[in-house]
Amino acid sequence: MKQDMIVILDLGSHENTVLARAIRALGVYSEIYPHDITAEELKALPNVKGVIINGGPNNVIDGEAIDVRPEIYTLGIPVMAAGHDKALCDVKLAQFTDDIEAIKAAVKSFVFDECKAEPNWNMTNFVNDQIELVRRQVGNRKVLLALSGGVDSSVVAALLLKAIGDNLVCVHVNHGLMRKGESEAVVEVFRNQLCANLVYVDATERFLTKLDGVADPEQKRKIIGGEFIRVFEEEARKLDGIDFLGQGTIYPDIVESGTKTAKMVKSHHNVGGLPEDLQFELVEPLRQLFKDEVRACGLELGLPYEMVYRQPFPGPGLGVRCLGAITRDRLEAVRESDAILREEFAAAGLDKTVWQYFTVVPDFKSVGVRDNARSFDWPVIIRAVNTVDAMTATIEPLDWALLERITRRILSEVKGVNRVCYDVSPKPNATIEWE
Ligand code: XMP
Repeated sequence: MKQDMIVILDLGSHENTVLARAIRALGVYSEIYPHDITAEELKALPNVKGVIINGGPNNVIDGEAIDVRPEIYTLGIPVMAAGHDKALCDVKLAQFTDDIEAIKAAVKSFVFDECKAEPNWNMTNFVNDQIELVRRQVGNRKVLLALSGGVDSSVVAALLLKAIGDNLVCVHVNHGLMRKGESEAVVEVFRNQLCANLVYVDATERFLTKLDGVADPEQKRKIIGGEFIRVFEEEARKLDGIDFLGQGTIYPDIVESGTKTAKMVKSHHNVGGLPEDLQFELVEPLRQLFKDEVRACGLELGLPYEMVYRQPFPGPGLGVRCLGAITRDRLEAVRESDAILREEFAAAGLDKTVWQYFTVVPDFKSVGVRDNARSFDWPVIIRAVNTVDAMTATIEPLDWALLERITRRILSEVKGVNRVCYDVSPKPNATIEWE
């Protein structure tokens, strides 16, 4: 690992991750550590060029005042206090805002002039370093990876494939609740184009049978999640000599931003809930990356744009968008209407700006008229939302002509549908998904 690093010591600021991202945006690698890191631990980290102590003005957590260890100042590494009201060094900053550009400007001189850090953090170096590290960790042994087709697992797959080739075994479980063309794209990209060792399991029948007649949303989620692990486990048992499990853990999963300063690394939960006797060591090459960096890494590795910029998709898939007890015909209506929505959003350029958009088909019918006769069919509900962290969300104000076009297409192309509605509810009070 050749890249220089600026260490951020977390003294309870909510903006540690924004600060780390800003420093990385300057081309210098940065990681966040707990405030009480010892001088020994700090010295053991590779290529530390400077330390930024980042805390709120009071640095009081759970009623206790906290501070860094004084020995940190004696290491001969430049130290800067930010978002702090104590002048701990010659550079003192006002409270950080969460404006990346402002933060970049505020720390630039410290990073380059005082710390003399080299701007050598970039995706090419990152990918090369990780390939080297994975090879060192894994050697000639095999890694198993659950390849869902989501951004993180796809990027991990592409990276591991570059590092260890045939010793990577990807398993893609199609639970029958994927969007139109999605499992096919996984097979096309990874098996046909990248020549990955891919086990494709079409478990559609198995999932739909298990879900038959189940209307409760939580119950549906439990069945889908549990069955997923069972299918993956069965495939894992069929394979010989696997020692490692690849995982798409990313930096926000690892760093707890906010005021729990001492809690730096989350315990590694038993991956996906696999049984105890299936013991694997983890390979997590993206654990240092933020989401936007994961995408940049995917592009660097040659993955298609659509895969890398795929909108978030819930684990239970279309299962939570086909409301109530899932039936095959309504599931098909969700899949087809979603495909039309995605096509029209892409044609209007909205796929690059709207955070998440999809359709929902409820389990009730309404009266309509078709070919001069009464119809009794389902409605399709369109949802398009914007959010930063999925905790709250606002509605995309869709262009009327676009809504009309999508409506016309859904009504004429999707079987069993006679009404289209646009859901204008923000979160809260609604959630993004309907179940
Ligand atoms: P809600 O509906 O809670 O959704 O406002 C927030 C975000 O989370 C996604 N979501 C899920 N993702 N498994 C997932 O992996 C799930 O069970 C799940 N439920 C919701 C949802 O799509 C939205 O992006």
